[in-house]
Amino acid sequence: MRILIAKDYDGMCQNGANLIAAQVLLKPESVLGLATGSTPCGIYDRLAGKYSAGELDFSAVRSVNLDEYVGLPPENDQSYRYFMQKNLFSRINIRPENTHVPNGLAEDIEAECRRYEQQVADYGYPDLQLLGIGLNGHIGFNEPAGDFPALTHRVALTESTINANSRFFKSLDEVPRAAITMGIGTIMRAKKILLAISGENKKEIARAAICGPVTPQVPASVLQLHPDVTVILDEAAAALL
Ligand code: F6R
Repeated sequence: MRILIAKDYDGMCQNGANLIAAQVLLKPESVLGLATGSTPCGIYDRLAGKYSAGELDFSAVRSVNLDEYVGLPPENDQSYRYFMQKNLFSRINIRPENTHVPNGLAEDIEAECRRYEQQVADYGYPDLQLLGIGLNGHIGFNEPAGDFPALTHRVALTESTINANSRFFKSLDEVPRAAITMGIGTIMRAKKILLAISGENKKEIARAAICGPVTPQVPASVLQLHPDVTVILDEAAAALL
């Protein structure tokens, strides 16, 4: 595991954007695994800036997102498809047909999980997977559990995640209770992983994930077993390392 500590959120985002930019420069047809949430916003902002400045070309890039809520249409401003369009895809020259997010409106969610897993496999899994981490250690929507889920699957969200996500919705009742997520096995097949952690409220879980025992009770701890992980943090999140 490589650990890069920046002074603040801006510095962490700069490191993240530089590492993703390097990936795209070295392999223009890269498969990028992407995340949503507040952490990557500044990274996507900088990538869009690099594109506008003519420094990056995404025309051959393919992307697969980690997860999506069950039941939210793409035009709902809380859906992860909407988030990706707004924060990244509409601001760069990635081809729409090369961007993939699980379909949370599929009639048969189990079949959608199998289809999505196959899509990621057909791409040969991400060259670089960007991850955030939940306060309970989740990656994607793989919540603390008795084992590490292997493949893309449907999850019931925990109280902790529903409460954390409620800040984006008008009321707690509107927060979806289920999601589709890549499994831990799917994530671990990425060739490189970039884990971004920011903020004082993440310092305990950052320590548990990076320095604690590998356990499905802290899903991100499994990353200690991956051969090519870079963790980018700000000083506040790195305070207990
Ligand atoms: C989002 C995702 C989640 C988030 C995590 C942290 O696609 O997979 O695991 O990365 O919930 O979210 P933020 O960055 O909002 O703290």
